[in-house]
Amino acid sequence: MSNQLEKVKELIALREEARLGGGEKAIQKQHERGKYTARERIAQLLDEGSFEEIDMFVRHRCYNFGQEKKSYLGDGVVTGYGTIEGRLVYVFAQDFTVFGGSLSETMALKICKIMDMAMKMGAPVIGLNDSGGARIQEGINALAGYAEIFQRNILASGVIPQISGILGPCAGGAVYSPALTDFTIMTKSISYMFLTGPKVVKTVTGEDVSQEALGGAAVHSQKSGVAHFAAEDGEETLSIIRKLFSYIPQNNLEEPPLVECNDPIDRLEDSLNEIIPDSANRPYDMYEVIGAIVDNGEFLEIQRDYAKNIIIGFARFNGQAVGIVANQPKFLAGVLDSNASRKGARFVRFCDAFNIPLVTLVDVPGFLPGTGQEYNGVILHGAKLLYAYGEATVPKVTVTLRKSYGGSHIVMSCKQLRGDMNYAWPTAEIAVMGGAGAVEVLYAKEAKASDDPAKVLQEKEAEYNKLFCNPYNAARYGYIDDVIEPRNTRFRVIRALQQLATKKVVNPAKKHGNIPL
Ligand code: COA
Repeated sequence: MSNQLEKVKELIALREEARLGGGEKAIQKQHERGKYTARERIAQLLDEGSFEEIDMFVRHRCYNFGQEKKSYLGDGVVTGYGTIEGRLVYVFAQDFTVFGGSLSETMALKICKIMDMAMKMGAPVIGLNDSGGARIQEGINALAGYAEIFQRNILASGVIPQISGILGPCAGGAVYSPALTDFTIMTKSISYMFLTGPKVVKTVTGEDVSQEALGGAAVHSQKSGVAHFAAEDGEETLSIIRKLFSYIPQNNLEEPPLVECNDPIDRLEDSLNEIIPDSANRPYDMYEVIGAIVDNGEFLEIQRDYAKNIIIGFARFNGQAVGIVANQPKFLAGVLDSNASRKGARFVRFCDAFNIPLVTLVDVPGFLPGTGQEYNGVILHGAKLLYAYGEATVPKVTVTLRKSYGGSHIVMSCKQLRGDMNYAWPTAEIAVMGGAGAVEVLYAKEAKASDDPAKVLQEKEAEYNKLFCNPYNAARYGYIDDVIEPRNTRFRVIRALQQLATKKVVNPAKKHGNIPL
């Protein structure tokens, strides 16, 4: 055998060794835990055969605690690039078979390298997390590695999309990389995220709590809002990432991909002409409205189980991706509260950063009153949504279906927050407040002094409703651009979006704004 052939053989052997990560036993253990390996996950995520691995021969450089005797090719992370539906993406997948996927100095360097490449090429970064946190043997170097990654997450924010899949442990400082990215998808049963684990919690607060109850997928998708999706298993986590990716552009200078649309743009949905119940206090399901107006009824909902009084997600109109923000009258009557405001605001800002038009469907009775909300800083949280809409320069189409009262009317993409096309259904009620509340304020004294207080209030309420609880008062001032037939909503939104395709608005130059946090 020639020298060269021998060297090629050696290369092939080294590659094979690297592909085994922490070894066959560790791979078997990973499978027994119900988890796929880093390479298996990458293969599931990317287009078949598209993955090009980088830094397969990197090893850690630690000499503490006998680490020099134990090292693996590639260290604890697999990095590289490939495609999803033919579009370039950069990927890192932590390899739990190597020191529990714990972050070493060299692992951080590998991750940072592909993050830098992604920024240079203007392509998204997808991180698949499955790690025991900072590699304890490496001490401060591991922490420095995290900080290097976080700094890149911060600089890449709003420039390239960043998506985190959580497919195992993600604890301590490690949680901050996913938190800084745009979307976090957790996997039920096998993943958890927390700053301090159950043992530390027990020592510090005395609280007994399991990993699942402290930071499982259910907790973060329902209670904390940290996770945007809770997938059934690893495969679903990766398929959600692929789907999500179909709605978003490669970077902040590109538009989202246009998809061929076979759903007629002038499809009339007669059911919408009868969807609003006669009684103002009866709910209807906003999902039905969304399903009826978007292309083929397809809607990728984000944070489905968190702050259900507001609905956010991606859909398409005539093949064009949009972000939908909608109040949900079926949950808490669609009121805005702290969590709904934060949820809406972050989504609006994502869409604005990545040139995704916003379609807002309004049926909001106001902000949730009470000490719970006020003490929780609902003023600041509501202001976030207000700020997000006001600063957004993407096309903004608003449709008011029913209630749009007071401060919440303003927050939900009203005309003066630079709403481009603001439509209302004939059932819209755009006013400072609802009739019952208004007459209580204005006529309580008069009613009390009369023989029949209920009658006085009733009459005044009827007068108020006639005068204010309609769309025409707002339309009279041009605050509503048109009152539209509900069944024709799809067509009117599509027309509006077509018209707005060349929209150019630039905000005043500044270092950055000071969004109320
Ligand atoms: N640093 C170095 N090695 C680590 C590590 C870390 N942070 N986390 C895990 N490992 C190693 C383990 O020592 C073990 O090595 P071995 O196979 O040679 O015995 C391997 O990774 C697998 O870990 P194991 O504990 O067997 O897996 P598990 O599924 O039972 O538990 C964790 C996973 C993450 C809960 C557990 O490993 C753990 O608590 N790790 C430490 C978490 C932490 O506090 N990190 C630092 C804070 S940032």
